[in-house]
Amino acid sequence: MTDLLSSLPLRDVESPNRIAVSPMCQYSCATDGLPTEWHRVHLGSRAVGGAGIVMTEATAVDPVGRITPHDLGIWSDEHAAALEPTTEFVRDLGGVPGIQLAHAGHKASKTRPWDGNVPIAPDGTDPTGASGWEVLSPSPDAYPPFDGDRPAMRKADQDDIEGVIDAYRAAAERSLEAGFEIAEVHAAHGYLLHEFLSPVTNHREDDYGGSFENRTRLVREVVAAVREVWPDEKPVFVRISGTDWLDDRESWDIEQSVRLADALAELGVDLVDVSSGGLHPEQAVPGGPNFQVPLAEQVRAGADIAVGAVGGITEPEQADALVRNNRADLVLVGREFLRDPYFGLRAAGDLERDPKDAAKQWPVQYRRAAQR
Ligand code: FNR
Repeated sequence: MTDLLSSLPLRDVESPNRIAVSPMCQYSCATDGLPTEWHRVHLGSRAVGGAGIVMTEATAVDPVGRITPHDLGIWSDEHAAALEPTTEFVRDLGGVPGIQLAHAGHKASKTRPWDGNVPIAPDGTDPTGASGWEVLSPSPDAYPPFDGDRPAMRKADQDDIEGVIDAYRAAAERSLEAGFEIAEVHAAHGYLLHEFLSPVTNHREDDYGGSFENRTRLVREVVAAVREVWPDEKPVFVRISGTDWLDDRESWDIEQSVRLADALAELGVDLVDVSSGGLHPEQAVPGGPNFQVPLAEQVRAGADIAVGAVGGITEPEQADALVRNNRADLVLVGREFLRDPYFGLRAAGDLERDPKDAAKQWPVQYRRAAQR
């Protein structure tokens, strides 16, 4: 019986359990995209806390692809070198370091959430004095503002599209140098790749807009570029929004997600991480425990690929049931890992029958505390 504490083989990489830290932006860089002590402690703590996979936050492949000026980036060798101590630390603890490679598209150049999450104009600044920039969009006319304000946008032309693909490829090469074992392409939450996927935000009439084939072209080209440089023995994940939650109009939905997952499997993607929404403010998101699990389940049933479930998963038994009942292959935990950095150790304690087996999953330095 496969359960939450079962290892997860991913090509030649093996996660010691099926618990992953869901990518979570920390907005804690200066303005250079370089990790700080915050990132090292934040990611390191979750490795200490028993996560099998420790995924970074959305890490920008290009400075214009940052959500805020304070996002993490991987657009130079200096970034790769600065991330290396963290990947080494995670690996030393038996965890698997993953990186989420991201481009924020027309949701870029914003202030941090605690500064209001509003667009910063190219000639404007955020409260820290950091400048904004012109953002890239598949179709600026279709921009659906969450905040009532429009950023300065440019329609992506053929050169921009090729630049995005090249930036993803180079970022993957650098991620490998930095010691990451999993590359996750971020194609969810209304950021650039999702903006191309959804007919709500993609009104293009060229090879990248219109039909399913055309709207999925950019994500397929990006994934192919990443897979080209990512070694065969290491896994690639893709995070998608399973649906836009806009049933009242032509939008991105679960049927298209299943079709895309199949195409991604053919391109050598190992796991689809199924999130949802983030594209349009009128989205009707159900919320609550496991609210996105049915989407993951449908991808798992309809496409020949492993899936990750995420969203409203807070209890070890809840997560364990998802794996035991074949609803997901991996469970990603977001906010609960912020409340409890040791969620993985808690899961071992709650789920292992023999306390000695649970204690073995604790770092040796902490083992005396494992048994009460
Ligand atoms: C997020 N989320 C997120 N998702 C993503 O794909 N990349 C990211 O960088 C971020 N950043 C981020 C920051 C913070 C502070 C939160 C709370 C969330 C979404 C996150 O990964 C997850 O999918 C959701 O939070 C739902 O899962 P939980 O929190 O219910 O377990």
